[in-house]
Amino acid sequence: MTGEGSPFESLVREAVEARKRAYAPYSGFLVGAALLDSNGSVYAGCNIENAAFSPTVCAERVAIFKAVSDGRRELKAIAVAGWREGANSFAFPCGLCRQVMREFCNPDTFVILITDGKDVIKRTLGQLLPDGFGPDNIKEEIK
Ligand code: THU
Repeated sequence: MTGEGSPFESLVREAVEARKRAYAPYSGFLVGAALLDSNGSVYAGCNIENAAFSPTVCAERVAIFKAVSDGRRELKAIAVAGWREGANSFAFPCGLCRQVMREFCNPDTFVILITDGKDVIKRTLGQLLPDGFGPDNIKEEIK
């Protein structure tokens, strides 16, 4: 896997592990995520689908909501592991997940690592959500 020896190597590995816990009986598309906070804690997530379809939640949002519900809002990086078996495909975070990241993460510094199980693509949130709408647009300070 590309990025061997990088500080994010184990985060990517945890996302790949979390992918094995995906509950995706409808799409068959398994996604795992691993989120790193400023304490060095890792929050894992997987996609969780639903027979009624719309309650489905992406792996990234599961991980972010776990961290925030534990009182952690200083988020540093997220690794996302989602690919179709037998295809060279990377699952970049969907638009909803990018917007949820924008709520808690600094667009300039928050790192997003996307893996197909072999290689890793690295982006900042600002690269994936340029000119995003965030908390600073509607409030001076969020406590
Ligand atoms: N999915 C994620 O978990 N994360 C993404 O970045 C893209 C899509 C999930 C949602 C759904 O369970 C399945 O992948 C197919 O869209």
